[in-house]
Amino acid sequence: MITTTDLRKVYRSRGREVTALDGVDLRVREGEVYGVVGRSGAGKSTLIRCVNLLERPTSGTVTVDGQDITRLAGRDLRRARTRIGMVFQHFNLLTSRTVRANVELPLEILGLAGRERTRKALDLLDLVGLADKANAYPAQLSGGQKQRVGIARALAGDPKVLLSDEATSALDPETTRSILALLRDLNRRLGLTVLLITHEMDVVKAVCDSAALMKGGRVTESGTVAELLATPGSELARELFPVGGDASTPDSTVVDVTFLGETAAQPVISQLARTYNVDVSILGAAMDTVAGKQVGRMRIELPGRFEENVVPIGFLRERGLQVEVAGEEQAAPVVEAVR
Ligand SMILES: Nc1ncnc2c1ncn2[C@@H]1O[C@H](COP(=O)(O)OP(=O)(O)OP(=O)(O)O)[C@@H](O)[C@H]1O
Ligand SMILES: [Mg+2]
Repeated sequence: MITTTDLRKVYRSRGREVTALDGVDLRVREGEVYGVVGRSGAGKSTLIRCVNLLERPTSGTVTVDGQDITRLAGRDLRRARTRIGMVFQHFNLLTSRTVRANVELPLEILGLAGRERTRKALDLLDLVGLADKANAYPAQLSGGQKQRVGIARALAGDPKVLLSDEATSALDPETTRSILALLRDLNRRLGLTVLLITHEMDVVKAVCDSAALMKGGRVTESGTVAELLATPGSELARELFPVGGDASTPDSTVVDVTFLGETAAQPVISQLARTYNVDVSILGAAMDTVAGKQVGRMRIELPGRFEENVVPIGFLRERGLQVEVAGEEQAAPVVEAVR
């Protein structure tokens, strides 16, 4: 649904050059919620602004719903943009207009007649749970309510794609959850593809089907959350499910085990202990539900060095678990989910 190919953006200001995007290939499938994470300055906002051409890429292409929007200009571009909704961190509402009039604004630009506009705006406010605030002014709303207005406004042009740049980072955790639930609900009910930027791993955990990690203008890892979790050495997987804990003695083997879907429900650790008569210590663990699936990571300690634990580790791998042994060289940590 959204594809960027070798996307580059170089800012030039006062003789200095900043490469904000350094060859980004992104592939967002129809109907998915896709999260882009990364440190401040990684290029996340630049990327999302290039997807709706608020920012012109220096080179590369952006395809949305089969259309190369980097080739569009004028009226064609404006029309294509109405199919791409955008939600902002600081809501960007007009304070002098009522909630309804804020939602009507893009409908005015689209040329909808007065009565039709009002009906559509009220429908959209109903959709985001704000029907009773139509005549209020932004100043009379809470942050979460303002963001709901922002979302209603973004949906005015019946977009197929919704872009969100840190839509929840100005909100408290509970309000964040309710806004994420709303985005997930809209994604399901309207078949809306959502590309969201966040610096919070919890946001990815709560709503994303897929995710990408950006660093220095490049995507270093990407894939479905399940693919990422199943990839040895994935930095995103580690940040989504951090497990701590140090070995109690140097003569032991520390193993990080990732449980996905069905494997999460199997009593593999107790089977391991029984089958090989080993004492398994749990050093750390995290369990959660991601995209409706049970996922967990656990750091365990087995007595004896790695050489002595080859068989039990093989047993875990045979059960379909993702197993990483501390200190063992890992394959290159770059995941490129090729579809
Ligand atoms: N208009 C601009 N002119 C010049 N440089 C810019 C401009 N916008 C962004 N940059 C630079 O491009 C790089 C990427 O910025 P960007 O805003 O995309 O990062 P980000 O990942 O969104 O960061 P944050 O998490 O802080 O929002 C930064 O080095 C930034 O200083
Ligand atoms: Mg940003």
